[in-house]
Amino acid sequence: MTLLLASANAEIGMALGRDLLLSGASALDVVEAVVRAVEDNAGDHTVGYGGYPNILGTVELDASVMDGTTRAAGAVAGVSACRHPFSLARAVMERLPHVMLAGAGADRFAREVGLASGDLLEPEAAATWRRGVETYHVDLGDNAPLADAVKTLVLDPEHVTGTVNVVAIDAAGRLVSGVSTSGWAWKYPGRVGDTGCLGAGNYADARYGAATCTGWGELAIRTGAARRAVQSMAGGASAGEALADVLADLPDPGMGDAVPFHMLGVRADGTYAAVSTTEVSRYAVWEPSMAAPEVRPRTQVGAP
Ligand code: GLY
Repeated sequence: MTLLLASANAEIGMALGRDLLLSGASALDVVEAVVRAVEDNAGDHTVGYGGYPNILGTVELDASVMDGTTRAAGAVAGVSACRHPFSLARAVMERLPHVMLAGAGADRFAREVGLASGDLLEPEAAATWRRGVETYHVDLGDNAPLADAVKTLVLDPEHVTGTVNVVAIDAAGRLVSGVSTSGWAWKYPGRVGDTGCLGAGNYADARYGAATCTGWGELAIRTGAARRAVQSMAGGASAGEALADVLADLPDPGMGDAVPFHMLGVRADGTYAAVSTTEVSRYAVWEPSMAAPEVRPRTQVGAP
């Protein structure tokens, strides 16, 4: 039983992921290859190179990986000098006695393991950022208050948060989940979302299943969304039931009506679900019965 399940923005790497799975690659290598394709996609302004920066114009990336077989995990947050934060999270998992690195320490580790890269701010993302700070006359000076501008800018419906999720089961039955993001456009410097928080935006336990999140990361942190979904699967829930239960119980963020929140879930038996609070969200999937990966609509379920 093999499976590759992802958010729709991973479409760019799905054929490569399928080929790797068919060639016998490990789920970890497959997830990494697919996530890296998205991180390299300059046209995706929610992940990796090309991601929208924080309100000061600095790109800060978060990523995490969890190996469901061993429950080993790695995560990074606030990375500003590494184009492939997922690979950095993997290096944390494999090379350090830690689970999570943030900020300057994470960038230092990127240099140490040969993953440092140049400026991550891509011209189109920079132009969008600049339009926002000019429209709202944001004072970017040292110690200038930023909170009010952030509260307005992050709700811009054209530039809501996005993220890539990839979950794979390989021929040996190994289950791995990976997530990578640049987080909210115009976020407060140092803001860490659910992607870097294992249990919130990403969780895998090969005995039961895996779950990952995209969308409003603060809600995933506040609810322990991914861990909660896997716990429901452990209790016998289907993937769809487990995810719907999380979405139905999201707290009201109190920041307007729009609450975009989306989850993928895979049970250990390979059954899966993709849900969203919105009508328009899609996911990508490949399983051995398919000639090619497909992109499909998610099931819309209740939101607060
Ligand atoms: N879900 C990604 C984020 O909120 O940063």
